[in-house]
Amino acid sequence: MNSQQFENVTLIEHPVINRDLTILRDVSTGTAQFRAALKRIAVILAYHALKELPLKTFEVETPIEKTTGYDIEQDVMVVPILRAGLGLSDALLQFIPDAKVGHLGMERDETTHEPVDYYSNIPDGVEEDMVLVVDPMLATGGSAHDALSFLEKQGAQHLRFVSLICAPEGLRKLEQEHPDVHTITAAIDKKLNEDAFIVPGLGDAGDRYFGTT
Ligand code: PRP
Repeated sequence: MNSQQFENVTLIEHPVINRDLTILRDVSTGTAQFRAALKRIAVILAYHALKELPLKTFEVETPIEKTTGYDIEQDVMVVPILRAGLGLSDALLQFIPDAKVGHLGMERDETTHEPVDYYSNIPDGVEEDMVLVVDPMLATGGSAHDALSFLEKQGAQHLRFVSLICAPEGLRKLEQEHPDVHTITAAIDKKLNEDAFIVPGLGDAGDRYFGTT
């Protein structure tokens, strides 16, 4: 499936992503390899997710002469959806070391497949900042929808959603509920199964990343 079927979705294609997604999907991949592959893809996603940051110019003096310098004009806030979102956060902080980090704790109820909110801590500045909500898996879209709605209620106006693998069902939900939010992802998979797991997916990203399977 490609991103053209969805408004406001950028599907990032790169040979390193293809190789590392395979490592992540492989059921025999252990925790260390899983973490390393996720972190590598996260860097590529972060690079693309930050492309629209506005710049301000100033004068800088090189050893030879004065020239135009650039700095990022807008503050950045990274909001991982706990737990699995933590695996994507560091890559963004490598590029924006002074980014604020908010946390939203959500756990999907395995029977209803609905997200259960258990924690929130969002720094000041959500109205003006570029706010990047990160979670490797978009399945039904319930968790991302809750997270984005929570931040919109707090006044967030410049929201992005960064994800590793999305199901079409989740993307359709975000398209309907949050048409202004741009999603950056490395894969759009086939569908959800009866347990609302992404097919083919990679299983539970949080469990595999934190070794809790
Ligand atoms: C997973 C995943 C997303 C959510 C996706 O988290 O990381 O947060 O489920 O499902 P949805 O789109 O249907 O809401 P999980 O509940 O397994 O928590 P964890 O990150 O702590 O493992």
